Parts: sequence; C-alpha cells; structure tokens
Amino acid sequence: PGTYAVTGSASGIGRATADLLRAQGHSVIGVDLHTTGRLDSEVTADLATPAGRSAAAAQVLDIAGGELAGAILAAGVGPVGGGRHPRLIAEVNYLGAVELLAQWQPALAAGRPGKAVVIASNSATTTPLVPGRAVRALLAGDVDKALRATRLLGPGRPAVVYAASKIALSRWVRRTAVQPQWAGAGIRLNALAPGAVLTPLLQQQLDDPLEGKAVRRFPIPVGGFGAPDSLAQWACFMLTDAADFQCGSIVFVDGGTDALVRPDDW
Ligand code: NAI
Repeated sequence: PGTYAVTGSASGIGRATADLLRAQGHSVIGVDLHTTGRLDSEVTADLATPAGRSAAAAQVLDIAGGELAGAILAAGVGPVGGGRHPRLIAEVNYLGAVELLAQWQPALAAGRPGKAVVIASNSATTTPLVPGRAVRALLAGDVDKALRATRLLGPGRPAVVYAASKIALSRWVRRTAVQPQWAGAGIRLNALAPGAVLTPLLQQQLDDPLEGKAVRRFPIPVGGFGAPDSLAQWACFMLTDAADFQCGSIVFVDGGTDALVRPDDW
C-alpha cells in the first residue's frame, strides 16, 4: 500500500478514483473545495488561485511525509455552471494540475518511484476552432494572454477555453513526461482522456439550454455516457506496474467519439 494524492476528490471521477484506491488498501489524501469525510486526509483548497495551489501542494507533501506513490489530477470545471468564468476554467484545469505536479515531482521521484495520471479530455481533439495562441499562452503560464486570444468568441467561448485548457494540459504531459527529472527519475506521467462521463460536471452541461443541446448532439458510437467508476478503474490501472513502460501517453476512454471525429488523424 502507498500514499496517493487525488485532486477533485469530492465528486465525479476524482471521487470514484479515491474510493477505489482506498478499497485497494491505499492511503488517500484528497484535495478539493469541499471535504467528504470519506478519505484518510482531506485538504481543502481553491485551485483557482496561486496561493490555493501552493498551499494545497505543500499540505499534501507534509501529510505524505515527502513521498507519494502516485497522484491523480482530476479537479476541473466544465464550460457551464461554476466554470462559466473562463479564467476559472484555465486556472483550475491547467494550472491546478501542472503547478501541483511540479511541486510534487520530488515526492513522486521518492515514491518507489511514483506514477501520475492527469485527467485530460477528448474535448482536446473534438472541439473545433481552438486558437493555437491560447494554447501556447497557457503552456507559457500566461493565463491573461490565453484569455485575450479567446475574448471575441461569444457564447461558445467557455467551451473553447475548456478545450484549450485540456489541449495545453495534454501537451504539458507529453513534454514533461519524457524529461530526465520525470522519466529519468522513474516517474511515469500519463493522461486519461475521457469522453462524456455522467458526473455532476456533465449534468450541469445537460441542464444548460445551449450546452445541453450541444452535448446531446455529440455522437458517442457505443451509445450512452461513461460511468465514473469505469474511468476510475482506468486511472488506477495507470498507477500500477502495468504503466512501467507507459510514458507521456494520452489514453482515450470516450465511447469512440475521438475515433469517429478524426479516424485518420493519427
Ligand atoms: P465533477 O464536477 O464531478 O468533479 C470535479 C471536482 O473538482 C469537484 O469535486 C470540484 O469541487 C473540484 N474542483 C472544481 N474547482 C475546484 C477548485 N477551484 N479548487 C479545488 N477543487 C475544485 O467533475 P468530473 O466530471 O468528475 O471531472 C473530473 C475531471 O474530468 C475534470 O478535469 C474534467 O474536466 C474531466 N473530464 C470530465 C468529463 C465528463 O464528461 N464528466 C469528460 C472529460 C474530462
């Protein structure tokens, strides 16, 4: 058994993953805006702010004693509800994952070494017209510039910022995973790219008149939405020895939408 950090542990995919890790006998440190009383330790933090991110990262390291067997970065906001504010989407979905992982790198290297799974999204490959400038600005850590690059987009803007945050996150994973301090230190960093999974985040989208229509129109070849529990099984699998030879991979578990939208773009 090891110690695992899970962000977004209070709901949806993060919650299901934290529960599964605990059921497997591991110790779980959750990070979220809310506590649930179900985990070994829960750090309450707002990952939308620099202070919240560094406090969360430091508290987890403190609780874990500087050694993590793994980390799952699942905190995120969708294009609707709490996530309507584009800045929130960029800060939580992108910086809320990469800044924490950067601070946890030494603990992951110490963790036998550890494995990290970032929850990306198939929106990264299926959303049209995402400005490359916004993605590049996020990768450079410049949220203001990324938001300026999307400011003229109208009502579809939150969905585009959401996709930009997930494209930047996926590229960051691929660029970072292969670095000497990561792959070379034995850490395995990979991403899971879900499609539509029935969680409170998706439910908020379904309940919104504009987004709800777009979500229902989006084709899912297998039919229906994914379940948080099955995504949790994938995330946990990518934390086992099965991932020893997996590095910088983006694993799509999306009911076939990505394959349908860009079959030959490969
Ligand atoms: P969810 O809404 O059920 O859970 C997200 C969790 O993140 C919540 O517990 C929430 O409190 C936490 N969170 C949000 N803002 C935060 C902040 N500022 N500070 C700390 N914690 C914060 O969502 P779900 O669906 O489980 O999403 C998990 C991840 O999966 C997200 O990164 C999302 O973008 C991604 N994803 C979800 C899909 C879906 O269809 N549900 C599809 C593709 C990706």
